[in-house]
Amino acid sequence: MFEQPKTVLLAGAAGGIAKAIGAELVRRSADITLLTLSRGTGERVPGHTGERRHLSVSLDQADAIGSVEHFLCEFSLPPHWVINCCGLLHDKTHGPEKSLAQCGDNWLMQSIRVNLLTHLHLAQALDRQLQRRQPLLWASLSAKVGSIGDNQMGGWYSYRISKVGLNMLIRNLSIEWGRRLENSCVVAIHPGTTDTPLSKPFQSNLAPGKLYSAVLSARRIVDVLEQLGPADTGQLLFWDGSQLPW
Ligand SMILES: NC(=O)c1ccc[n+]([C@@H]2O[C@H](COP(=O)([O-])OP(=O)(O)OC[C@H]3O[C@@H](n4cnc5c(N)ncnc54)[C@H](OP(=O)(O)O)[C@@H]3O)[C@@H](O)[C@H]2O)c1
Repeated sequence: MFEQPKTVLLAGAAGGIAKAIGAELVRRSADITLLTLSRGTGERVPGHTGERRHLSVSLDQADAIGSVEHFLCEFSLPPHWVINCCGLLHDKTHGPEKSLAQCGDNWLMQSIRVNLLTHLHLAQALDRQLQRRQPLLWASLSAKVGSIGDNQMGGWYSYRISKVGLNMLIRNLSIEWGRRLENSCVVAIHPGTTDTPLSKPFQSNLAPGKLYSAVLSARRIVDVLEQLGPADTGQLLFWDGSQLPW
């Protein structure tokens, strides 16, 4: 297990789950240092007494790598925890595809930009900063529907395909950083269906009790992360900490 983090980097910080994770981290440790990345301007978490730095950046763009690298250079040590919450399921004109015929290149590529490249670019920005002895816990919010082994339903082509790419990135990162760092853990985690803008259009068909508040999901995610150690690296985790098949 890692020590309680002193500095956490939260990416996609304006999202529903990300905001709740920020609040949960502050609830557990008011003087934590929070570094946030978002396309927006960033908001201070009520009750937070620690340092907070924000960078407005679009992580889906390649030039974000240099901007984030520069931002992180201001700090003598890399963050102890990195939690990347970026993800996309729908926009005003696109949603999950029910069949192959509905899958179009543009939406697939946009899904890959947000579900995969935002995580790749952040990893690339952090990469050169990493120090062999510095502990690092990295968690990317992924999705159970990005598990190939778990897929019994089909559909949702763009979301599933892009999350599969993210999952492979996480597995690769766990191997590369596992060789370079003495003390690292790199995981993908499924938050469970959570009441945020991302799940809004799909909430009506859920079984009772299967839609979780962002506060609850954040609490569960932080609980799981607090229990992880280097031996857990390279996994896709369910919100209760159990392992999902890739
Ligand atoms: N909610 C669920 O039921 C559910 C279930 C399974 C998995 N997940 C995963 O959990 C994560 C968080 O989801 P959420 O429910 O909190 O969704 P959300 O409220 O819609 O937040 C989405 C996040 O993605 C980022 N984002 C969206 N478009 C982007 C773009 N073009 N470029 C860069 N960043 C972009 C946003 O960052 P900014 O701060 O820049 O706005 C925001 O943090 C996602 O990876 C999602 O796939 C959610």
